[in-house]
Amino acid sequence: MGGVTIRPAVAGDYQRLGGMFARAELGGPTMAGQLAFVQQRLNGAAFVADAGGELVGASGAVAFGAIGWIGGVAVLPEWRRGGLGRDLTAVAVRWLENAGTGTVSLHATAMGRPVYERLGFAVAGRWLRLTTVAMAAVRTPDGVRAGRPADLDAVLVLDRAATGSDRSRLLRAVWGRGCLVAEDPSGLVRGFHVPKTPRPAGRHRWTPASEPGATVAADARAGVALLAAWQRPGAAASVVLPEANMAGRGALQALGYRVTTATVLMRRGPAPACLPERIFGGFNLFWG
Ligand SMILES: CC(C)(COP(=O)(O)OP(=O)(O)OC[C@H]1O[C@@H](n2cnc3c(N)ncnc32)[C@H](O)[C@@H]1OP(=O)(O)O)[C@@H](O)C(=O)NCCC(=O)NCCS
Repeated sequence: MGGVTIRPAVAGDYQRLGGMFARAELGGPTMAGQLAFVQQRLNGAAFVADAGGELVGASGAVAFGAIGWIGGVAVLPEWRRGGLGRDLTAVAVRWLENAGTGTVSLHATAMGRPVYERLGFAVAGRWLRLTTVAMAAVRTPDGVRAGRPADLDAVLVLDRAATGSDRSRLLRAVWGRGCLVAEDPSGLVRGFHVPKTPRPAGRHRWTPASEPGATVAADARAGVALLAAWQRPGAAASVVLPEANMAGRGALQALGYRVTTATVLMRRGPAPACLPERIFGGFNLFWG
């Protein structure tokens, strides 16, 4: 679009991007925080559409081995329908291709879906958001304990099997205080939970503390135990997870959660060897 430059984001952009995302109705400062985390901690990329100094759009990309994610695609209402959404997505796709990802995934809103379809993305499933206004009081299930540094190797193996991708940089960045693991009776780690707020506390906080973080488990028993274990009675919470994870959805509904929204998972490139029934909670709707 004339007069608009698409360029990599710089540190000074993120404060202003919070306002841009709020006006675009895509998460506000939370989304700006996710983009900063992706660029500064995960070796990812963030792009802005700069109209003579005004930030009018953005996009982001992160590579987890063979799978790349695009998120944070937004354009201010008065700048829409001029090709900026397409160009911001295309620059992120190119960045991921150069980073060696054969598959690019994203969670699409209804507004974004036609833009992505024209760029070769196809629907690959749905994710649900389940929400509760007040978490229930639940006894910590047997076999769930605080995560330790020594659990990280098992966590990385579990995560790779569930997501079909290499999220080791992300998991190393966030593994620490508040993390949980579920063990089977023999002491084998079968699942893990990462709270939403990563270390160091506050600095790269990307969503409200009331939102629980990621939960991955090799079997439904471990996944459901972890979902119960992080409930904080009375606090509001929401969880995003693949629609295909029936056990996770059922457990959350039994805890009083209700489905509030559904988003479409889209993909460009070969289907990864992922097991959505093992994902009992995604970090967010940027990188899943
Ligand atoms: C989704 C979003 C980023 C699209 O941004 P955009 O800049 O309007 O995207 P584009 O201009 O590339 O495409 C939008 C439409 O404009 C049309 N268009 C593009 N250039 C055009 C032009 N020069 N003249 C007329 N129409 C044009 C496209 O064909 C497309 O049409 P369609 O979707 O109705 O079929 C924007 O609507 C948005 O920020 N929405 C809110 C946040 C959101 O949902 N983000 C997606 C997250 S997954």
